[in-house]
Amino acid sequence: MKKVLIFCGLLLGATQVATAASPAPQGDAEAGKAMTTVCSACHGADGNSAAPNFPKLAGQGERYLFKQLMDIRDGARPIPTMAGQLDGKTDQQLADIAAYYAAQTMTGSQTDPDLVALGEKVYRAGVADRRVAACTACHSPTGQGNAPAGYPRLAGQHPEYIAAQLRAYQQGYEDPEGRTNDGDTRIMRSNAFGLSDMEIEAVASYAAGLQPGQ
Ligand code: HEC
Ligand code: HEC
Repeated sequence: MKKVLIFCGLLLGATQVATAASPAPQGDAEAGKAMTTVCSACHGADGNSAAPNFPKLAGQGERYLFKQLMDIRDGARPIPTMAGQLDGKTDQQLADIAAYYAAQTMTGSQTDPDLVALGEKVYRAGVADRRVAACTACHSPTGQGNAPAGYPRLAGQHPEYIAAQLRAYQQGYEDPEGRTNDGDTRIMRSNAFGLSDMEIEAVASYAAGLQPGQ
């Protein structure tokens, strides 16, 4: 009996390995850096962009960055401004770029004092009657995200960019022109769908103003 159980366990283990997605290539930050000269025009020399509509990439989680780069290259997240930028790049090159930016340090952003109270409430408690989950659950209480899980950092990001993404996810809830690359669980589309415009402004400002840290 014991032997049979062990055999079943082995079989199960083998199936899991066989069905798991192939692991992301190991990124080389030095090789990645060499490819980012063209990116710096918009994203800043070290990934800390000056303009608020260009996201900061410095210190963002490596797994999240790699997934976004794959999605942008393959069209799952179309970004017209970035048209052509990633054409012809291999998965390995995208992993290298992700490793480079992840190793930089994100600079801080400011929270609008008038938006702290509402922003903190939404960030920490969600909006129960509209099925908005607390952002802390995935993006962490300090806004650092969860790098191994691929949940992006929000602390230090431009508030304008965060708000624009929440509106894009909201649009993507019903309209494929919105941002739809959050997977089959539609986790971000569902959360953003229940937010009011005011709540989007407030939670974006609050999350951005959390200290980036490491
Ligand atoms: C002409 C400006 C421009 C250039 C050049 C550019 N980007 Fe972007 N990038 C953008 C904009 C705008 C967005 C955000 C679009 C949106 O609002 O969804 C973006 C988004 C991204 C994101 C997603 C960030 C996140 O937090 O989800 C990554 C990763 C990225 N760019 C990497 C790169 C890399 C790597 C290069 C160089 C090979 C590059 N970009 C070149 C404008 C640019
Ligand atoms: C259950 C987990 C979960 C919860 C809860 C959650 N998020 Fe997310 N969020 C994610 C994941 C995962 C992604 C990245 C999706 C992908 O891989 O493309 C993401 C992406 C984002 C992005 C895009 C970041 C970027 O750089 O483009 C923003 C902004 C965001 N979330 C804000 C929020 C806010 C605000 C809340 C609370 C109202 C929230 N999230 C709640 C998991 C979550």
